Order: sequence, then C-alpha cells, then structure tokens
Amino acid sequence: MARTKYVAGNWKMNMDKAGAVALAQGLVENLKGLNAKYMIAPPFVYLDAVSQVVKGSNIILGAQNMTVTDNGAHTGAISWAMLKDLGVETVILGHSERRDEFNESDKLINEKVHKALDNGLDVVLCIGELYSQRVAGVTNQICENQVKEGFAGVKEDQISHISIAYEPVWAIGTGKTATPAEAQEVHAFVRGVIKGLYSQKAADEIKILYGGSMNDGNAEELLAQPDIDGGLIGGASLKVDKFTTICKFASK
Ligand code: PGA
Repeated sequence: MARTKYVAGNWKMNMDKAGAVALAQGLVENLKGLNAKYMIAPPFVYLDAVSQVVKGSNIILGAQNMTVTDNGAHTGAISWAMLKDLGVETVILGHSERRDEFNESDKLINEKVHKALDNGLDVVLCIGELYSQRVAGVTNQICENQVKEGFAGVKEDQISHISIAYEPVWAIGTGKTATPAEAQEVHAFVRGVIKGLYSQKAADEIKILYGGSMNDGNAEELLAQPDIDGGLIGGASLKVDKFTTICKFASK
C-alpha cells in the first residue's frame, strides 16, 4: 500500500540560536508545496524560536527526547507538557545515542512511549543493531526485541501515532550507510514483527524510516525501497539544500 513518506531532521546537539532560526526559515521556504510529511527536531533550547518559524507551515516541530515524569524535582529534565507548550507535536525516543550515552533501557523507553502517546504527542521510536551484532548475525533478533519492548502495552488504535526509525548504529554519523538492500531486508522484517504483534492493517500503515548517514546522494535509492517510508536524518539535516533535496525525493 502507498504510505506517505516521512522525512525527519534530528539536529542533535548542533547549531546556535541564529543558525537554528535560519535553517528553519530556509526549510519553510523550500518545502512549501511539497507533499510528504516533514519534521525537524532542534535542541530543546531552540524549540521556542524554531516553533515561531514553522508555525503554519508544513513542517512539524519535534523534540529529540522527553523525560518520563510529569513535573517536579527533576533537575535538567523536560516534560511532555513543556514540549507541547512550545508547539511540539512529535518526540524522538530510544535514539541509540540516548541508549548508549545516557543508559536508556528498553523499559524506560517504553514508559516514555506511553507517556508521550497518553498525552497527545506522536513518537518516532528508534531501533537498530550495533556493528558487532550485525556481524554476529543477530540484527533481526535485536530489532525484534527493541520493537516488542518499545511497543509493550501500546494498543492498536495508538499505532497511527508511532513511526519506527531503523537506524543501524554502525551507520549513524559514520558515512557508512546500509545498502538499500540491507536496509530493505530489515524494514520488511520489522514490518512483519508489527503484523505479528498487531495486524496486517497495522503493518501496512506504520511508517518505518531509515536512519544512518542518509544524505542527498543516497536518499533517492533508499527511499525507493518498498518498505522504507522515509528517513531520520542527522548530519544532512543541518544544511538547507541537502535536507531540501531529500525532502523533494520523498515528495515524488
Ligand atoms: P546521521 O544521523 O544521519 O548523522 O547518520 C542519523 C540519526 O542518528 O538520526
């Protein structure tokens, strides 16, 4: 079935305020009239400024993370309510950098998924194997476990609010992209996992994005794969022209 493509920019810990605003302004201009789904996730501290820029455009405002608690004495944490207050509609959860650098477990990520969904935020749930796991031949097993644990307790009627980003950890920020065939194989497998957990309808509808050194040079071929429904882009989302090119491929 035809799924609308979804291109998301994960700006990570980059930019200053002026650069963030300028990038967002350039994208608002360039993406006018394109017909895929677009999201950008600036650092928390620039969300408010970027929110003013993307308001009324076809770009959704996303956050790179969210804490699991509602409010209170949690120094440095950012809640779902704070994000929504700034116009955020989507949150990226379970990114491998959060799993690795900040020790986020599947259980915590699942709790965050529920917190986001229960409070009206959409989710991009990241999964993906380490290089050692790919070499050991356990890529599918790792992805299946991350999907099962990330989706635990999520009801079928909530599925339309979650997208999955398959991001092989060895391809993130390294310039090494999974080949379109390698990525397609995992995407098809993950779609099968969703079918097993829910239904054919859920599997047909869920968007599975690819992430890991996707750029303006390789996006067209990756996005042409039947089970690759978009991209979660890091490095190439920081340049107006590169991100625009990827967004145009998705809009075809
Ligand atoms: P990259 O990052 O495009 O820089 O590899 C992707 C991601 O981590 O979401």
